[in-house]
Amino acid sequence: MAQGIRDKVVLLTGAAQGIGAIYARHLAAEGAKLVVTDVNEEGVQALAEAIGRAGGTARALKVDIASQDDTERMARFALEQFGRIDGLVNNAALFSALLPKRSMMEIDVAQWDRVMAVNVRGPFLCCRAVLPQMRQQKSGSIVTISSNTVLSGVSGFLHYVTSKSALVGFTRALAREIGPDGIRTNLVMPGLVDTDGVRQGYSEEDRARAQAVRALARPQTPEDLNGVIAFLLSEDSAFITGQTFNVDGGALFH
Ligand SMILES: NC(=O)c1ccc[n+]([C@@H]2O[C@H](COP(=O)([O-])OP(=O)(O)OC[C@H]3O[C@@H](n4cnc5c(N)ncnc54)[C@H](O)[C@@H]3O)[C@@H](O)[C@H]2O)c1
Repeated sequence: MAQGIRDKVVLLTGAAQGIGAIYARHLAAEGAKLVVTDVNEEGVQALAEAIGRAGGTARALKVDIASQDDTERMARFALEQFGRIDGLVNNAALFSALLPKRSMMEIDVAQWDRVMAVNVRGPFLCCRAVLPQMRQQKSGSIVTISSNTVLSGVSGFLHYVTSKSALVGFTRALAREIGPDGIRTNLVMPGLVDTDGVRQGYSEEDRARAQAVRALARPQTPEDLNGVIAFLLSEDSAFITGQTFNVDGGALFH
């Protein structure tokens, strides 16, 4: 029987709300041992407790992914708790906090810099923190979350789309660099997902438009992403690295 992600130690960023919390519940239900992190400490504590009550294993830690100290602490904490690191899901980002959308001239320089610090430097720091351990193990899988806005090029979200585009090159270059150590990295591009943040930040018309262009014309749920994340963390994807998986119900073909 395939092992899937049972007993794999997986670090997940941005798990306090939205899609990240759904990934966490799914990965735990599939038997992974989780470190759930977020800047929202209460949120990840509550999540870890809920996962524990449901029979899963999760430890919570407050982590700002833009901070080198925090990301290094995250890797040390995982090792203290579980003794190894098999997977990292770079999910945290400034996304719903940036809504409603704004034009280029309305994005000030400080906000631009903060989006790059969280959405680009964050995954860089998280990878950097876990790589020494993965190199020692000669194994590991890193999944980074981008967005299908990179393919469509939506307006009013220039800082966000630029940051998520950077992760394409990041993943490809990193795959080359860590492949020789037996470590893989892949990118997932969700479409517009029905979360509280999206329901608050997007009008009903915008959400209906996003749905209408899908080959599978229904709302996208966070659960629609669970399969691809678990697959990429498991040995079932052992020969896949540097790739981009667009999971948007066939809105865009790539
Ligand atoms: N919801 C969508 O439609 C959609 C579509 C495409 C891609 N995505 C991507 O999926 C991921 C999750 O999206 P979501 O809708 O759940 O987002 P969200 O905005 O609802 O949640 C983001 C989470 O990241 C955390 N976070 C923010 N800054 C952080 C930091 N510096 N350090 C640690 N944690 C931080 C927040 O506290 C929050 O819990 C993001 O990478 C987002 O860009 C979402």
